[in-house]
Amino acid sequence: MCGIVGYVGPRESVPILIEGLRKLEYRGYDSAGVAVHEKGETRVVRCQGKLANLEKQLTVTKLTGSVGIGHTRWATHGRPSETNAHPHRVGGVSVVHNGIIENHMILRQRLMATGRKFSSETDTEIVAHLVDAELKAGVKDLGDAVRNALKQVEGAYALVVLSDSHPDRLVCAKVASPMVLGVGEGENFVASDIPAILSHTRNMIFLEDGQVAELTAQRIAITDLAGRPMSPPVKSVVWNSTQAEKNGFKHFMLKEIHEQPRAVTDTLRGRIELEQHDALLDEVQLDPATIKKIIIVACGTSNHAGMVGKFMIEQLARIPVECDLASEFRYRDPIVGPGDLVIAVSQSGETADTLAAVKEAKAKGARILSIANVVDSSIPRASDGALYTHAGPEIGVASTKAFTTQLIALALIALHLGRKNGKLSKEAAKQFIDELLQLPIKMKEVADQAAPLQVLARRYGNARDFLFLGRGINHPIALEGALKLKEISYIHAEGYSAGEMKHGPIALIDEHMPVVVIAPKGPGYEKVMSNLTEVKAREGKIIAIATRGDQEIGSIADEVILIPECASVLSPLLTVVPLQLLSYYVADFKGTDVDQPRNLAKSVTVE
Ligand code: AGP
Repeated sequence: MCGIVGYVGPRESVPILIEGLRKLEYRGYDSAGVAVHEKGETRVVRCQGKLANLEKQLTVTKLTGSVGIGHTRWATHGRPSETNAHPHRVGGVSVVHNGIIENHMILRQRLMATGRKFSSETDTEIVAHLVDAELKAGVKDLGDAVRNALKQVEGAYALVVLSDSHPDRLVCAKVASPMVLGVGEGENFVASDIPAILSHTRNMIFLEDGQVAELTAQRIAITDLAGRPMSPPVKSVVWNSTQAEKNGFKHFMLKEIHEQPRAVTDTLRGRIELEQHDALLDEVQLDPATIKKIIIVACGTSNHAGMVGKFMIEQLARIPVECDLASEFRYRDPIVGPGDLVIAVSQSGETADTLAAVKEAKAKGARILSIANVVDSSIPRASDGALYTHAGPEIGVASTKAFTTQLIALALIALHLGRKNGKLSKEAAKQFIDELLQLPIKMKEVADQAAPLQVLARRYGNARDFLFLGRGINHPIALEGALKLKEISYIHAEGYSAGEMKHGPIALIDEHMPVVVIAPKGPGYEKVMSNLTEVKAREGKIIAIATRGDQEIGSIADEVILIPECASVLSPLLTVVPLQLLSYYVADFKGTDVDQPRNLAKSVTVE
């Protein structure tokens, strides 16, 4: 996600802003900028790329002033570029923003109809226009102008506004994106994350959703969106800077596992059409009438997402889907051409094998849609359309939140295709959407079960091998569970379709072999149960992932981790979470380098 830093006080603001942004660099970004009040006017310097570019630019365009805002942008709406970089300035108003303005299209059209012109592709610029319009309409107080503007905005935001008309202050607000105020002596700070301001103060106010704060050097005044005064407590932060970067979690991977409910919410945001019970995917323009078949190409964890996507699309839209390992695709002279839709799934958008598969399919005349987390990366650029997951930067090499948000993107595609070709009724689509919207809460419930998984990690963490079994849509989750464990704990693990066990892997089972079985209630449950009796008969140790209320599984499994009930087609979003946690805690128990496991890279740009 993007980073925000703001300062108001007696000191020069630029060094404080740059230092703060540097502390947020670990989160990843693709452009940066600052805006500083200087003698009655705000001046903005922005650039694409790293902070070093911004610093270089600041040696040419020198900014001085003691009230300023800074931002590092991770592109979500609009390419990474200088024009899309924050702060966005409209009239005398400058804004930095994290999050997603859900109703940005309607607001943009409305503002354009009043003659306003936009200079970027971002949703953020809308906020600057709205605040500027309020001030131009005669609103005297900057806080009031921001509150009025935000009443029109739907979505998630943490934002800071600076206006030429009020040169002594910053106005900040937040809904569903983190924002913290730093309380200093004769100076105050704001940031999207603690590390950015921790070297200046440990006294912090954590803004709540719907709160608006006005910061001058001497005081902080907080209200709700209606302007009623609020007084959230000032808390003392005891974390050191490394703990603060990880938000108090021991590793980025653990932080990212827990971020999944938020990441999934962000990927869904603005993409559900409640009246027609459809997915709003304007950015990719899908027409099932022109699609003969779909081929999903991807590597590693993204390939597992693609395999789940096959089930989703075939079930909801009844369009045939093939899944191909991108690394194999072009070497087998694939039968692909006009009328085929190739979906390339890649977190980084840079995986060389996936990019090569995209080029191969394109050369043969297929239409390419990519699902990626990094905006404007190579794979989306080589595609005809891109659906971006809004997971935010993933730092741990082992993919977690990128995976679950890929599943959401695929679920939205399945929903949209099914609605467009009429294979999914309104009622069924409504039910699917209800289930989708409940996922973040259910995922949080699952992620909160750390204690039993820690116990399991200690109990089984010395095993030499693990077997992961699942059926149907949870077969790819068995593969993913095994991959996660291998990657970070270096324990040999295999993922298998439960039905395949008797055709080979059963020979491995004895009392030393932990067998993780994904057995949520739904199609295939009875079959999985009978596979379990085969494991039990050979004294394998069974760790089951099962649905809450399952009375049967406890009689056969040695350990049971429960997940809430949910539609089978979405169950992978819940069943994968305990597997991520299990791998994490086993790796932590073994003391491996969880975030940067040996021999692995976050982005594999070689074939
Ligand atoms: C996942 O934990 C791995 N690090 C790896 O399998 C990864 O998913 C694969 O390299 C594909 O990466 P991509 O999604 O960036 O294309």
